[in-house]
Amino acid sequence: MPFITVQPSGNRFEAATGASLLSALLAAGEPIPHKCEGKAQCGSCHVFVHEGRKSISKIKAAENERLDAIVGVGSKSRLACQSLLGEEDVTVELLGFGSGL
Ligand code: FES
Repeated sequence: MPFITVQPSGNRFEAATGASLLSALLAAGEPIPHKCEGKAQCGSCHVFVHEGRKSISKIKAAENERLDAIVGVGSKSRLACQSLLGEEDVTVELLGFGSGL
């Protein structure tokens, strides 16, 4: 069961292995946009994963395509709805804006 640390709030909580990062953040009360409800279509759940990236599920084609269409994407970018948690702790930065189309 990984611990999630959220920036900039500093919130830290335990989440279930196999849960999506989006569902874990929402369950913890973090204000993350999710306009398409986890279908990799809107891009509004774009976050930076600073630590623990290797334990999160790999990027699939739909997420890759959506990230390609978002301004401000970097090597730490993930869509929270497509990121399934592994065993390692994760530090994630919420970007505070919806970057969807
Ligand atoms: S909620 Fe729309 S891409 Fe994640």
